[in-house]
Amino acid sequence: MEYKNILFNVEGGIATITFNRPKALNAMNSETLTELYDALSICKNNEQIKALILTGAGEKAFVAGADISQMHNLRVPEALQFMELGQETMRFLETIAKPSIAAVNGFALGGGTEISLACDVRFASENAVFGQPEILIGIIPGWGGTQRLPRLVGMGIAKELIMSGMQINAKRAYEIGLVNRVFPADQLIPESNKFAQKLAGMPGFAIKMAKNSINFGCDLALDNALKLEAACCGECFGSDDQKEGMKAFLEKRKPAFIGR
Ligand code: CAA
Repeated sequence: MEYKNILFNVEGGIATITFNRPKALNAMNSETLTELYDALSICKNNEQIKALILTGAGEKAFVAGADISQMHNLRVPEALQFMELGQETMRFLETIAKPSIAAVNGFALGGGTEISLACDVRFASENAVFGQPEILIGIIPGWGGTQRLPRLVGMGIAKELIMSGMQINAKRAYEIGLVNRVFPADQLIPESNKFAQKLAGMPGFAIKMAKNSINFGCDLALDNALKLEAACCGECFGSDDQKEGMKAFLEKRKPAFIGR
């Protein structure tokens, strides 16, 4: 598929997906969502790709939300379709068996915050701005914001953000646990790459099991979630990297993981 709205670059086992509609502050229309889904499918199927970074082109925005010019005339059934496409894409991103980093530069509003929430970790530049401003245009978040935001920052703060539509800066986003780390703007991509490289060198099967256990366990009752964790941890013992990791420990040497 030829991409018009994203850039897709693979280097050293790291796939970087850059939202690239800077004139519209990288707002997401359905074409961009489809391109993102396609790029994620490549990431899923290409064994050389070990980690993902998502970021925005230009200095001003990560993603300023779903494209309002595409949405303003939608009727209920079409709006539902657009939200389902967004949700399906976010869920694919969230559950892909490889680690993902949102490198948030500038505005991450509405769908922009929601994309970052579907990533495993969020790094932000000092000028990043987060928010769920949908209420200010008469709707609510539709790509997972009402569900993932409270799971991450708690219900009280999520309601404050979603019901007021307020924007918050990177410092506040860090305080509430919405972002993992904050960097000067020129350090955001190098630091994201450094962390992606680190994760790319981890045992790939164990990364997959960690994601499965966290993603699917958090919504279960504790006893069931613990069963899931035990099953995921048990599965790791069928992997080459578990054998190598434990052998290397006992032999007091660095492990040479092969990613499966
Ligand atoms: N959709 C479409 N176009 C957008 C956009 C969006 N979400 N956000 C910005 N743009 C466009 C603007 O229309 C403008 O285009 P023109 O130059 O052609 O007029 C261009 O990007 C630059 O934007 P501004 O001139 O507004 O820039 P600013 O610096 O004054 O303001 C901003 C920046 C605060 C991000 C402001 O653009 C803004 O509030 N954008 C909308 C944010 C928003 O409401 N996002 C939520 C969308 S709904 C959603 O995401 C639903 C969901 O859950 C899926």
